[in-house]
Amino acid sequence: MSVSDYLKRYRLKPHLPRHVAIIMDGNGRWAKKRHLPRIAGHRAGALSIREIVRVSGQLGLSALTLYAFSTENWKRPRQEVSLLMKLLRQYLRSEVQELLQNNVRLGAIGNTKDLSGEIQEELEKAIQITSRCTGLNLILALSYSGRTDLTNAVKEIAKKVKSGKIKPEGIKEETITKALSTGALPEVDLLIRTSGEMRVSNFLLWELAYSEFYVTKTLWPDFRTPHFIAALRDFQKRQRRFGGVESVIGSVTSWAR
Ligand code: IPE
Ligand code: IPE
Ligand code: MG
Repeated sequence: MSVSDYLKRYRLKPHLPRHVAIIMDGNGRWAKKRHLPRIAGHRAGALSIREIVRVSGQLGLSALTLYAFSTENWKRPRQEVSLLMKLLRQYLRSEVQELLQNNVRLGAIGNTKDLSGEIQEELEKAIQITSRCTGLNLILALSYSGRTDLTNAVKEIAKKVKSGKIKPEGIKEETITKALSTGALPEVDLLIRTSGEMRVSNFLLWELAYSEFYVTKTLWPDFRTPHFIAALRDFQKRQRRFGGVESVIGSVTSWAR
């Protein structure tokens, strides 16, 4: 089936976001509601990831960035962290074939050096195997911190200034955008956060400057295709003004930058 077939099936208009970012939250609450250990929620959440990645590919999105683990998440009880890491390893192992089949190219942002050697290897392998895929770019944010990413960008730019490669006056917004770990990706058009929390929790701080926000009470393990389509439909109703006065709802012109 082609992208336009899927658009028809899901009753979506053609102008979809190019880049969607998701704060996948609520796994713990999902488990608690069922009197299950938190890890059961994380396990169920992995199934949502599989489904949302597949639909994103079918709809021809360019990039999907998933907040899987923040630098702050290292503060969680040791057992939860180690089970989460185990799950990540399993995910990387078991999903590679599915990613390949769906032409999905895997990438990662964050302090991946904080991950165990085994997981780093598994991640590298999956990135390598899918490196020729030309469909969706799936980016996992792992041990990610928006502030750290900005700090690293500043360091990189400072080095260039010191070596004379660029002048301080030559630093533009674009210089910073490009120096971030997301520098090669399109702008984040839509940010989704599940489970109702109204905060960015140190996610893509610079990148979210003009993103549309969609917060749903649905917990991440319950967030499946119909919920994702609802978020995309909602996005298609938004007026994106970028500080201007354009008021054409849903028109292609209101998306121009
Ligand atoms: C999100 O679910 C997954 C990670 C942060 C790894 P949570 O584990 O934060 O779930 P809640 O917020 O406790 O419900
Ligand atoms: C944000 O969720 C991080 C991820 C989804 C990986 P958290 O549950 O860690 O965020 P807070 O604690 O509600 O801010
Ligand atoms: Mg949470």
